[in-house]
Formats: sequence, C-alpha cells, structure tokens
Amino acid sequence: MITVLRTAAEVRAWRGTGRAGLVPTMGALHEGHASLVRASRAENDRTLVSIFVNPTQFSPDEDYRAYPRDEAKDLALLAGLGADAAFVPGVEEMYPPGDATRVEPGPVAAPLEGARRPGHFVGVATVVTKLLAIARPDRAYFGQKDYQQLRVLQTVARDLAFGVRIVACPIVRDPDGLALSSRNAYLSPAERARALALSRGLFAARDAFERGERHAAALRAIVSEHARTAGELDYVSVADPFTLAEQEGPVTRAVISLACRVGRARLIDNTLVGLALEEVS
Ligand code: PAJ
Repeated sequence: MITVLRTAAEVRAWRGTGRAGLVPTMGALHEGHASLVRASRAENDRTLVSIFVNPTQFSPDEDYRAYPRDEAKDLALLAGLGADAAFVPGVEEMYPPGDATRVEPGPVAAPLEGARRPGHFVGVATVVTKLLAIARPDRAYFGQKDYQQLRVLQTVARDLAFGVRIVACPIVRDPDGLALSSRNAYLSPAERARALALSRGLFAARDAFERGERHAAALRAIVSEHARTAGELDYVSVADPFTLAEQEGPVTRAVISLACRVGRARLIDNTLVGLALEEVS
C-alpha cells in the first residue's frame, strides 16, 4: 500500500521532519523512474513521488492529451518499490484559478529543447518550483535522460536559493540500448527497431571520442550517420555540458545529444564525454 496525497495541504501534513526525497514524474512509470525512486530511498528517510502531467510544459501542438496515463498501475509499481507516498494532484490543485506566476529560467534553457519547444522550460521550472515549495524535500531526483532539464533545474534551484540538493541519476536503457521513455509507448515494433539507431549513433560518437576524436563537427557527423536512419532528425548537438552552448572545434568534454521524430514519438537521448555525471552539479 502507498499513501496517496491529492492536495498540497495533505503533502504538508505528511511531510514530517525527517530527510525527505522528492521524485517528480509525469507518470507512465518505467525502470528509469524506478531508478530515481531507489536512489531516493537509499538516501532519505521518506520518499515522495509526484505524478502530474503538467499542462504548462506542453505546447498546443504537443501530446498533452495523448500522454499515457495509468494511475492504478503507477501506484502499484511505486508500492512495490517501497516509495512512501505519491502526490497525485489535479490540474486545479497545481494551477488554481487566478494562477499567474511563472519561473523564467536563464540562458541554459535557450538552445536545443528550449529552441524547439517554446515555453517548455518555463513550464518545467514553474511546476518543479511549486512541487519543491509544497514538499520541501532535502533532495530532489532527476534523470540524465532529460539532460537540459537537469541543467535548467540545477540552475533554477541555485539561483532561487531553494536549498535543495538536485541529484542526477544515469540514463536507464533497455538491453539493446534504447533509452527508456514513457513516449516509447507510441512506437510500433518496426519504429522501435529503427529507434535503436539513436543510441547506436551516440555510442559510436562516444567510442570515437575515447579513441581520440575531439572535433565537434566530426562527432556530430558520426551521430547523424546512424541516427538519420531512425526517422526525422530534429538536431544533433555537441555542447558544453554546463552551459549547453554549441561547440565548434576541439572539445575536452561535452554532452552529445539528439532529438528525432520516430513515427509519432519525439525521442531524445544523450551521452556525456570527457566528464562523469557526478561532475555535473
Ligand atoms: P518524466 O518524463 O516523467 O520524467 C521524470 C523523471 O524521470 C525525469 O527526471 C527524467 O529525466 C527521469 N527519466 C525518464 N526516463 C529516464 C531514463 N530512461 N533513465 C533515467 N531517468 C529517466 O521529466 C519529467 O517527467 C517532467 O518534465 C517533470 C520533471 C516531472 C516536470 O513536469
């Protein structure tokens, strides 16, 4: 059994004084989310998982309505993982009538996903700010899978002095390399097979870096050569792992990332080269 909290007041009453970890999610939970819950369980007295498909981070042309939702299945999975409580608010609880304040992240939110999805990171930063204000956790857990989101939230938490530790967790993949994502549910078997070219491209670039290839353009070309067979490539980027500024010429460390439309799914993936995830904070 897991305690289900529907309102901010219920979360505050539940919170207590022990060390609390918060794992924000949009549900349709998979092993990637589970890894965040396990990390939180290991480091805190209590773990709260939020499930909220946040309307303000979707553009009108995106998949807000279609986004997979299965509350009963998610709650059963969280109970099995030993999460202590789930916060599952309705839209009116998070955005009551008259709600008008938004959190505008700085330049780290501008390129890549920020450039393709206008307003996306304002929505993410706003909802995560609200979740942190409600739950007041000691630590909050985010996946490297959404690398730019992680950097945006690290920056927001620092700049607004939230005093929460943002913990980064590595990407969980299926054994064949595909990064787990709630949006993988949109893929047909044939599309899923094609999507393997995305991680293959990233791994090929990472291997090339390890063999000495340092040129940003060459690394991008290696990724593209594979990834373009998956579907409609949106971008391939070799960027500074802190600022997300696109790199030219030789790199000593970088985040190599991509976005690609495969069927009706828009998939993102990334890998770090020249630095470990633990160094990103
Ligand atoms: P969602 O896509 O549900 O992801 C919730 C968390 O799980 C994020 O921190 C994400 O990076 C992490 N995650 C997803 N797939 C993962 C994988 N394969 N391996 C490791 N971690 C993974 O990201 C969001 O929701 C929302 O934007 C949110 C932060 C909840 C704000 O609405």
